[in-house]
Amino acid sequence: MDLQPCVTIKKEWDIVAARQLGRDVAKEAGFSTVDQARIATAIPELARNIYLYTDGGKISVEQIDTLEHKGLSVIASDSGPGIEDISRVMEDGYTTSRGLGAGLPGVRRLMDEFDIKSNSGEGTEVKALKIIR
Ligand SMILES: Nc1ncnc2c1ncn2[C@@H]1O[C@H](COP(=O)(O)OP(=O)(O)OP(=O)(O)O)[C@@H](O)[C@H]1O
Ligand SMILES: [Mg+2]
Repeated sequence: MDLQPCVTIKKEWDIVAARQLGRDVAKEAGFSTVDQARIATAIPELARNIYLYTDGGKISVEQIDTLEHKGLSVIASDSGPGIEDISRVMEDGYTTSRGLGAGLPGVRRLMDEFDIKSNSGEGTEVKALKIIR
């Protein structure tokens, strides 16, 4: 199957496309239905953040198939305002938009590896990995 590995996030509807891409790649990679659901929950949170807090970005989803790991990687990147205090936004309940502030901490819990890099004024990159065990 040939899957489009990347979705541009600009409009609200693009969040749905990102979720669908995540689900398709997760299925193709051979994740359990429970893990497929975890991935399909995590990815739209990252997409929604790009939609809400930046003027655009993208979500790439790729199957990982190496000797050590089989699974999936998600990279959400944008050139928005960036995040000044990363430890703060990773606290449950921290929000600047009257959201639940559950998005990023939720993604960290749903995935196996999570990494966020951001420089104020230079955008944000979130990388998350889910491994098939
Ligand atoms: N890509 C981003 N660029 C800039 N700021 C961001 C980005 N993603 C998240 N943030 C900031 O981090 C805060 C926490 O994000 P998080 O997704 O955890 O919660 P939320 O979006 O506020 O609420 P929820 O996701 O629960 O609806 C946001 O309120 C926002 O200030
Ligand atoms: Mg959010």
